[in-house]
Amino acid sequence: MTGFDRLHQRYPHPAERPGLYRNVHGWRLHTDHMLTHIPDTECVAVEIGSWTGKTTLSLLRHRPRLRMVCIDTWKGGPEHQPGRSHWQPFLPQLYEQFIRNTWDNRHRVVAVRETSADGISAACEAGIAPVLAYIDGAHDSQTVYADVSVSLVAWPTAHICGDDWGNAHVERGVERAAEECGGVKIVTHGMYWEFEKRGDA
Ligand SMILES: C[S@@+](CC[C@H](N)C(=O)[O-])C[C@H]1O[C@@H](n2cnc3c(N)ncnc32)[C@H](O)[C@@H]1O
Repeated sequence: MTGFDRLHQRYPHPAERPGLYRNVHGWRLHTDHMLTHIPDTECVAVEIGSWTGKTTLSLLRHRPRLRMVCIDTWKGGPEHQPGRSHWQPFLPQLYEQFIRNTWDNRHRVVAVRETSADGISAACEAGIAPVLAYIDGAHDSQTVYADVSVSLVAWPTAHICGDDWGNAHVERGVERAAEECGGVKIVTHGMYWEFEKRGDA
């Protein structure tokens, strides 16, 4: 049994498809950059913060042998709560919306409904060794720092990247993790950020 199968057993998709219309709401897609680091072979990628699955589905479409570990509370961040800038009316059904959107790919997706810290632990316990970890969960600098630094240690061969460069809190968290990891170089493309391949610097 693979690490992905073990994690899938622990976090199975519900038995029935949620009775919702497909609604793949999201923000930016950085999949063109990410795909250059995902081979067209059997492999696993981790996404921290998946929302309705827009990035998840785009990567799965372009890489038919890819499987995705999606870690999210599906509660939204502070900016998604009622009255805040990114609120969406489907927030109370965000998890069900993700399950609905990924239903046809449910054998290729594990929805780890946990905080990023607990989800990364669960993925490590299962033995997940991703080729890429995309970090797009909480945006406060402490959590970004934790998500990035734990991913760097847990998955030493994974390509580490994320969204929201330009957000000062995100930048601070990513830069602190990079410094502590021996000054790994950060490369940015608009709001997308990634670490230069470790060992190449
Ligand atoms: C900007 S959205 C992710 C967008 C998604 N990557 C896409 O491409 O459409 C951020 C997500 O992070 C999740 N999130 C926020 N804080 C989290 C935390 N501490 N642990 C796990 N997920 C978190 C939210 O529930 C939300 O779904």
